[in-house]
Amino acid sequence: MADNMTHTAFATTHTLSGMCCLVSGQVAFAGSGPGDPGLLTLKVLQALQEAEIILYDRLVSAEVLALAGPEALLENVGKEGFGPQMSQDEICERMIAHALRGKKVLRLKSGDPTIYGRLDEELTACEEAGIAYQIMPGITAASASVASIGQSLTQRGRNTSVRFLTGHDMKGFADHDWAALARPGEVAAIYMGKKSARFVQGRLIMHGADRFTPVTVIENASRADERVLETTLDRLPADLADADLSGPALTFLGLAPRQSRAALADLNMELA
Ligand SMILES: C[S@@+](CC[C@H](N)C(=O)[O-])C[C@H]1O[C@@H](n2cnc3c(N)ncnc32)[C@H](O)[C@@H]1O
Repeated sequence: MADNMTHTAFATTHTLSGMCCLVSGQVAFAGSGPGDPGLLTLKVLQALQEAEIILYDRLVSAEVLALAGPEALLENVGKEGFGPQMSQDEICERMIAHALRGKKVLRLKSGDPTIYGRLDEELTACEEAGIAYQIMPGITAASASVASIGQSLTQRGRNTSVRFLTGHDMKGFADHDWAALARPGEVAAIYMGKKSARFVQGRLIMHGADRFTPVTVIENASRADERVLETTLDRLPADLADADLSGPALTFLGLAPRQSRAALADLNMELA
């Protein structure tokens, strides 16, 4: 493990001085961002161009993959979508096998690899196989989504903290501190929240949340086909069903698009 850490620091330092950022026989876990290739970090772009093997997830966009070097072998290890699913064990085995063959391996995950990315299982697999690795952050869906609606994740006087939640976990719908989330002014970014919308709504209202709490769902954030659904906690499940979103979507509890808030403020001034 100590050796791994040394290698990680070595690879990272050399990127900054303009040299290679990937090392043969090692794995780089990188975030591809939410889809727009303009949101890639320079480091991940360099890794895409140097990698010999790129194992990528289902939500990594085609535009990002198009930036891979011409010699790179691209393997779709997405765990959902069309075709047979690949198990986590199989993904780990493929990744380790490539690294043991001395390849420069890039494990590309959507958004930021440290957020709902099942990164730790793969880090453990590297450690058990004695493979050194490094982690390259990416822009997470919540950052891209909040930018799309012109809001801040935190705002003085409104919310001094923000929570990242998942709609479901390995056991089913995920449980959270609903009483805390139901308080006025709370902001939460809910990943994988489409199917759990009714469950989340029910739990929050049961714990005293205002039914008119603003909720915004951003589908395909940062991509050409991005859509924004503005609703309230009360209407969330019904509006989601009507919108029939098919792409990845991020649900913001407690945030409305900035323009609609501004429109409301204007209206209030006119009425005053
Ligand atoms: C397995 S999680 C991966 C999250 C990713 N690691 C990140 O940091 O954004 C997949 C979920 O992320 C969200 N997501 C990913 N890309 C998105 C996008 N472009 N627009 C909206 N939500 C997105 C959706 O909630 C999706 O169900």
